Amino acid sequence: MSIRSLRKWQHIQHALNIPPGPKATGFRDVHLVHHAVSCLDLNDINTEFMFLGKNLKFPLLINALTGGALGLEKINKSLAVAARECGIALAVGSQSAALDDPSLSSTFQIVREVNPKGVILANVSALVNPKLALQAVEMIAADGLQLHLNLTQELIMAEGDRNFGRLLENIKLIKEISPVPVIIKEVGFGLSLEAVNKLMNLGINFYDIGGAGGTNFAAIEIARNNNVNNKDLLNWGIPTVISLIETLDRASNTTICASGGIYSPEDIVKSLALGANLVGIATPFLQLVNSQNEENIINHTENLIKMCKEIMLLVGAQNLNNLQEKPVVITGFPREWLEVRGIDVQKYALRG
Ligand SMILES: Cc1cc2nc3c(=O)[nH]c(=O)nc-3n(C[C@H](O)[C@H](O)[C@H](O)COP(=O)(O)O)c2cc1C
Repeated sequence: MSIRSLRKWQHIQHALNIPPGPKATGFRDVHLVHHAVSCLDLNDINTEFMFLGKNLKFPLLINALTGGALGLEKINKSLAVAARECGIALAVGSQSAALDDPSLSSTFQIVREVNPKGVILANVSALVNPKLALQAVEMIAADGLQLHLNLTQELIMAEGDRNFGRLLENIKLIKEISPVPVIIKEVGFGLSLEAVNKLMNLGINFYDIGGAGGTNFAAIEIARNNNVNNKDLLNWGIPTVISLIETLDRASNTTICASGGIYSPEDIVKSLALGANLVGIATPFLQLVNSQNEENIINHTENLIKMCKEIMLLVGAQNLNNLQEKPVVITGFPREWLEVRGIDVQKYALRG
């Protein structure tokens, strides 16, 4: 097995064992406002969302997890069945291994076979050769291309990249030739005002903020390389709530996916209310695939969506546009951070 394929299995094992954090996502300091006279019928709550030209039943993305080693097609198949049955989007894990060794392509292509009409995202490093990025899109007839930014992870990995000098130039080249929209995705350390400013200058219209507080790739790599000294980076990154609001501040009129430790129905609805267009969830789906059959994965996901609709009813939002007009109160550390960064948080509290 190649080092890359081995790494895929190790990532899964460590992700299943390492708890989220230690940094907090910040959602404890984000409050939705209960509406006692909401006057809505739960059956009328509409959560449909048009993403990349296709209709989702709920703005949820099973975020990039895996593929690229023999045996991993089983995980991708179950995820694709859940995405198809629940009407949500799916991203595959990094396709680099299959770009090096085409015999591994089937571990990714299974998602398109199982879910021919669904929204499926390709995934490669933002540093990949642009021609290979196009091959990744073709491999799974992808609707969009996630380019992942994982500088922190690379620095901790003994075999990781050290030179990021051509990162922006490479993103620009890929964007110019990509037949599908390019989505810039962090993997758990968050996008900042400064990062988004640079990406907006390249004309990027899709962001996955990948904030800190959920799956921690510093912790996963430290566990994999158990001799690294860089334990300081365990606590590195921009909490999800802060990263989301910084990105919203700079990237208005773009499509923004909130992700990074967003695991509960309430945190999903908080993200959508703040202004995210969709929410990405990764490790909880891995845990489901690890412990449940496909029917239970579907039931669990449908139940999550139902609970989100109940919360929408409780704040008086009949659809996703209404939800973004409802007040959201931001307190504590996120408020303090955002205010010193020049972002007005009161506008969220005074809505409606
Ligand atoms: C086992 C595992 C493998 C992952 N592989 C990738 C990957 O190949 N490409 C990528 O962009 N993100 C990858 N991620 C990161 C997730 O897509 C996501 O950004 C991160 O886990 C934070 O979301 P979460 O807190 O919902 O898990 C992986 C995550 C896990 C747990």
